[in-house]
Amino acid sequence: MTEVDSSLGVNREFTAMGVVPLPRLRPRRLRCTPAIRRLVAETRVDPADLVLPLFVKEGAAAPREVASMPGVVQHTLESLRRTVEQAVAAELGGVILFGVPLHRDALGSSADSPDGIVATALRRLRSDVGDDFVLISDLCLDEFTDHGHCGLLDRRGRVDNDQTLHRYASIAVSQAEAGAHLVAPSGMMDGQVAVIRQALDVAGHHDVAIMAYAAKYESALYGPFRDAGECRLEGGDRASYQQDPANGREALREVAFDVAEGADIILVKPAMSYLDVVRRVADTVPVPVGAYQVSGEYAMVEAAAARGWIARERVIDELVLSARRAGADIVVTYWALEVAQRLRGQAGLR
Ligand code: PBG
Repeated sequence: MTEVDSSLGVNREFTAMGVVPLPRLRPRRLRCTPAIRRLVAETRVDPADLVLPLFVKEGAAAPREVASMPGVVQHTLESLRRTVEQAVAAELGGVILFGVPLHRDALGSSADSPDGIVATALRRLRSDVGDDFVLISDLCLDEFTDHGHCGLLDRRGRVDNDQTLHRYASIAVSQAEAGAHLVAPSGMMDGQVAVIRQALDVAGHHDVAIMAYAAKYESALYGPFRDAGECRLEGGDRASYQQDPANGREALREVAFDVAEGADIILVKPAMSYLDVVRRVADTVPVPVGAYQVSGEYAMVEAAAARGWIARERVIDELVLSARRAGADIVVTYWALEVAQRLRGQAGLR
């Protein structure tokens, strides 16, 4: 005999064993089969959501693996071209380019030099892909300065916000001229988006968009990037310009300013440990939001997987999915190619 007890959400079944509750509210029904799970999945990942960061090293004769990022290399111009071809074939959303120069100085002169590594690489890639694929250029000074800071230093050795803006404006124009569809300022100087927008417009690059690293935290998770970009911060830290990991609300202020200054896309960085920020930003802004899975996130997963401690592919897919679930429209990830290729494989199986 079954008796309904709606207050408990169970039916009671009276059996020889006594009274057994029969739950009526069964979320597990929607998890019974892969087909049902697929029907009700709230979040999907598409290759077009993914952006692949790429490093290109000036004067390199062969691609060189980054020690702390197994599977990630500093490219030559030629291996860069081949990887972008793969990214196009995998139907990624785009690539974001980082230049590694041979020479560094106090002004980061090679960042906007027309024959510098970034401009050279962008020109070649743009002539390869035209407008059929999105080329994004990281816009910062830390790979190009001898002191390793993201801006110019004043006489007392502090990062000079407003002097740095002149450099960013010039770099933006040089990257646009070389063929970037989007420039991505990552230096966290106040007013950088406004200055870059104005510089691009004055130079006639109205259609070059700004993907602003609006909420970029002062994170230890950028560690392996220092190997990849060969940026060497000689002492000190970036705490006077990058955000304090203690602050979530402050990100909304940064983001509001960047949007008001003309940011077309907003990035939150890192991803994994800042998904609360991704969610808050995504709920607030009227522009697309990206989350950047940084070098340290990559390195941790690869290191644990190499020891057989975690299931590599499942963890990678889960991390990318989680960023999407938190509200990121775009995920910038060193695993972009691999994840896209896996997604296409799965689609092929259906
Ligand atoms: C600045 C920049 C950095 C990263 C992206 N752009 C370095 C930093 O801010 O310290 C980090 C990316 C990563 O760790 O994967 N040019």
